[in-house]
Amino acid sequence: MKPVKALILGYGIRGRAYAAYASTHPGDFEIAGLADPVAEFPVDAGYPTWKSWDAALESGTEADAVIISLPDRLHYPAVVKALEKGYHVLLEKPIGCTWQECEAIRAAQVKARKLVLTGYVLRFAPFYKKLREVIASGIIGELTSVHHLAAISYGKASHAYCRGNWSVESKGTGMLVNKCTHDFDLIEWWTKGKACKKISSFGSLMHWRPENKPKGAADRCKDCPDGVREKCAFDAYKVYYERTDLRYHFADESDEAILKMIETSPYGRCVYACGNDSVDHQTVLMEYDGGLTIILEMESYSQQRNRVTHFYGTRGEVIADERKIEIMPFLGDSTTIIPQQTGHHGGGDREIMTEFVKLVRSASPERYTAILDAALGSHKIAFLAEESRKTGKTILEI
Ligand SMILES: NC(=O)c1ccc[n+]([C@@H]2O[C@H](COP(=O)([O-])OP(=O)(O)OC[C@H]3O[C@@H](n4cnc5c(N)ncnc54)[C@H](O)[C@@H]3O)[C@@H](O)[C@H]2O)c1
Repeated sequence: MKPVKALILGYGIRGRAYAAYASTHPGDFEIAGLADPVAEFPVDAGYPTWKSWDAALESGTEADAVIISLPDRLHYPAVVKALEKGYHVLLEKPIGCTWQECEAIRAAQVKARKLVLTGYVLRFAPFYKKLREVIASGIIGELTSVHHLAAISYGKASHAYCRGNWSVESKGTGMLVNKCTHDFDLIEWWTKGKACKKISSFGSLMHWRPENKPKGAADRCKDCPDGVREKCAFDAYKVYYERTDLRYHFADESDEAILKMIETSPYGRCVYACGNDSVDHQTVLMEYDGGLTIILEMESYSQQRNRVTHFYGTRGEVIADERKIEIMPFLGDSTTIIPQQTGHHGGGDREIMTEFVKLVRSASPERYTAILDAALGSHKIAFLAEESRKTGKTILEI
């Protein structure tokens, strides 16, 4: 079989992550071209490059598929055009920035009969596959409630939702849709066969606001007086220079480049002077068929960056924290499973590409709409949760 050839639109963090599959699985996947206005492309790669996604799609380049890893607001125009041009698509989440965009993308998919696979990498990660298997096995009986915490960590949350790309809701989708469509997807998967009946949500931007700026603090961390800066946990030097776990967000991770970035880029701004309006924490309450209740909590102000889920069932409990799965039936012994995890997103980045290649090769248009519909189901819940938060009303008709 020939490798699946794809254009990659947006060569940032996600674009580079998907591109890496071409070097690890050369028999299955090949890059047909890259588009990005600012990224540095590999030299002498032997494929064309463009400054913009639309130029790439207009170029008539021979390819089976397109990977859309563009900023959120470009997903809708890019996926619609890619489908019109006859390409299969791997589309980063969110599918669209509004429910209307999502519906228009579905109409385009139905017309084109091509695959649109959403970048829900977690459901492909070995940890979450195992967890789903445990819940579906019935070992803890019928689920009565699920408490799911998406802890983002104050460093990552300040990077993405205060200083960065998703800090201003009108420029994308807001934090819940951007971050937690993954979580709504997992919830839909765990509750497969049951429909969500009611949704209520609360949340706000409590802390990263101008009125909370410490006395004497400057608008950029480089200008902040030492006495003030050293007491600030969100100081860009602490977040990006002293710690190194967020450096992967930048093409050049060297000390020199990070210091320059702090001095000159939006990521060196004081968290209290970013003009941000995205929430910093939000809770969603849901009721499913048969009375199953679910709480999703999205939190910026945590040390940990992981998801912790507590499942309660009529025959026992399961607690999962992205490292281990503890199974505690009421009768019989408790067990702990520690699934093997290698690679980014616990192996999800690699596994979703394996699935993408398989689905493109399967040429099964009848499955493609069902795949998009499943992904749209969790987007719909996320958009309705946002409606509830903004209107203060419980959504009773879904
Ligand atoms: N599935 C996941 O777990 C996951 C994780 C992070 C981000 N995402 C999503 O992936 C998408 C990309 O996020 P990212 O973190 O890689 O962001 P990023 O900023 O690192 O990458 C986006 C890239 O798009 C490029 N771009 C901007 N305008 C363009 C244009 N007109 N034509 C071509 N390229 C253009 C930018 O220069 C940038 O390099 C976002 O929609 C985000 O929500 C998904």
